[in-house]
Amino acid sequence: MTSLSGKRLLLGLTGGIAAYKAAELARLFVKAGMDVRVVMTAAACRFITPVTMQALSGQTVYTDLWDARVRDNMAHIELSRDRDLILVAPASADFMAKLANGLADDLLSTLCLARQSLLAVAPAMNVQMWENAAMRRNVALLREDGIAVMGPGAGDQACGETGMGRMLEPEDLFAAVAVLLGPKLLRGRKVLVTAGPTYEPIDTVRGITNQSSGKMGYAVAQAALEAGAEVTLVSGPTALAAPLGAVRVDVRSARDMHEAVMARAMASDIFISVAAVADYHVVDAKAHKIKRGSGNLAIELAPNPDILATVAALKKPPFCVGFAAETENLRVNAQAKRKRKKIPLLAANLAQETFGRDDNALTLIDDQGEHELQRAAKIVIARQLIAHVAGMLKSS
Ligand code: CTP
Repeated sequence: MTSLSGKRLLLGLTGGIAAYKAAELARLFVKAGMDVRVVMTAAACRFITPVTMQALSGQTVYTDLWDARVRDNMAHIELSRDRDLILVAPASADFMAKLANGLADDLLSTLCLARQSLLAVAPAMNVQMWENAAMRRNVALLREDGIAVMGPGAGDQACGETGMGRMLEPEDLFAAVAVLLGPKLLRGRKVLVTAGPTYEPIDTVRGITNQSSGKMGYAVAQAALEAGAEVTLVSGPTALAAPLGAVRVDVRSARDMHEAVMARAMASDIFISVAAVADYHVVDAKAHKIKRGSGNLAIELAPNPDILATVAALKKPPFCVGFAAETENLRVNAQAKRKRKKIPLLAANLAQETFGRDDNALTLIDDQGEHELQRAAKIVIARQLIAHVAGMLKSS
């Protein structure tokens, strides 16, 4: 028995070379005891045949909006009504654009528009298509609409290029669906997350910041929401949209972040400190623009509070999780950092392999030892981290 046993899935396939992976995906779901109904677009049928999907799912495969086999001839309604989840894998760029704009010109897109169930998509496309501005807008819209975007992953692509855009491997998609449909591991828990860089002003127009994009912290907030938690996201300056359902508190400097966190830490069950907090601020930041002079200009820096260590030192601290972005000696430095900050769990990564990227790999360090999370999209890693935290809380 798995947590997916008995769950009802509508697996939608659109046109892309990754359609071949949908065969393995269907097999994994069926093996887990799920009821899998497959719907394919005309383009998907050019990559893999309905016969293959029928054999693996053990059910009739539907491709046509006008399928006379469906009661009342309302395939777009009937086929999805009893489903717990619609998963479109692979989801092509064209299909995601249709979804984002509410278009419905074939069976699968119409089903999605008429849905009552959860909807998830597993993007699969060339890296340039994934990074295209129109695609960025569409993905943001899909997320705002509460659609779970699973992946994509990074790596070699069928077109010969390398980068983000590969559909997640069937095992990873299976895991993501298990999280989405599975038990709400953090139901009723209040989770406080910090994310992004901080900005320390030098004068009114200049400041000191760092290369953190905020993507990892936002992914952690999203994963905690999926796990049923109430999430507050204290964010330094980023261009990201907060995950739907999170309470967002915008801050600029480390001292602002410290204040925002301390006001909420006591009322939180879990504190996950993902932000890249500046260790110093500028003493005597000027309230006007500093003018050019002929000689050197010295800027004096004073230490900022260590937010995580301060929260961990509270009388009744929330369960504290730290992040460590190291540039060398990852394990040794991270182990020392965990001890110094007196926190039960620290997630370590190499700064040069995470900052600004959409994927990450983490080493989780706790009292039991080290656990490797293999490189994957940040949201996939975040879900694994949340599952680990939930496991630690359960056994504590
Ligand atoms: N952190 C914090 N407040 C700070 C500095 C860091 O809360 N002023 C948190 C970060 O959010 C992260 C953890 O502490 O969860 C480790 O951050 P890092 O910058 O790696 O640690 P530092 O203590 O600043 O050590 P160093 O920069 O010397 O590596």
